[in-house]
Amino acid sequence: MEPYRNKSSVEEIRERFEHDVERFSDLHTGQVSTVDAPLAMELITRAAAVATHPVRRILDIGCGAGNNTLKLLELAPGAECTLVDLAGAMVERAVERVKRAGAGKVTGIQGDFRETTLPERGFDVILAAAVLHHLRGDEDWERAFQKLYALTAPGGSVWITDLISHEIPAVERMMFDRYCGYLESVGGAEYRGKVAASIAKEDSPRPVTYQLELLRRSGFSRVELLHKNSSFAAFGAWKSI
Ligand SMILES: C[S@@+](CC[C@H](N)C(=O)[O-])C[C@H]1O[C@@H](n2cnc3c(N)ncnc32)[C@H](O)[C@@H]1O
Repeated sequence: MEPYRNKSSVEEIRERFEHDVERFSDLHTGQVSTVDAPLAMELITRAAAVATHPVRRILDIGCGAGNNTLKLLELAPGAECTLVDLAGAMVERAVERVKRAGAGKVTGIQGDFRETTLPERGFDVILAAAVLHHLRGDEDWERAFQKLYALTAPGGSVWITDLISHEIPAVERMMFDRYCGYLESVGGAEYRGKVAASIAKEDSPRPVTYQLELLRRSGFSRVELLHKNSSFAAFGAWKSI
């Protein structure tokens, strides 16, 4: 039986995010459901800037309203930015904000990053924040990570923050319960129920251990775990020169 048959389609995901631009334009409201979101964003952007130097070309997949690129631009002023998102309204907002922040050339692309044609070895840093948990089966994950590797320039790096799962089912239940406790503490029982239902419908996260292994298998020579707290992690990989 197809394990993902009840999950949201790409079109349903796009439609939901078309109407969520305001929330994602403010880090504090947009990322409340994400444990340690400001810390994770700071860590991936700082790690990107020290692992890859100089950062001249940034690709942000599932860019939303551009928060992560904006943060990286503080450390890489004037970099060229390519912003990709399923939702046209997100791309529009991200382009507007990133241009205002003093980026070099800014290219916005509405589309699924898995199908978008982008230059091989064309990016010094790739950011993927809160987007890969929408990938589904093994083949989808493998092809997506191979594409990230192909797009990364030699000496470049890819940085991910995301909802994650765990390998051992009992540990996954324990960690998800802790996450539900966090949700309840910030928004009450109704908020917890809403976020948990949305995850059940829309998301299919993988363990950070799986993703680090897959990054290495895809060709990256060094991988790095920056932070993990209950159901969220920040990590990345570097492509040798
Ligand atoms: C939770 S939001 C995160 C936005 C932004 N990265 C941030 O951290 O503020 C996820 C975004 O990924 C986009 N997205 C989901 N799947 C995608 C795909 N396959 N290709 C491009 N964008 C995608 C959604 O439209 C949405 O805007």
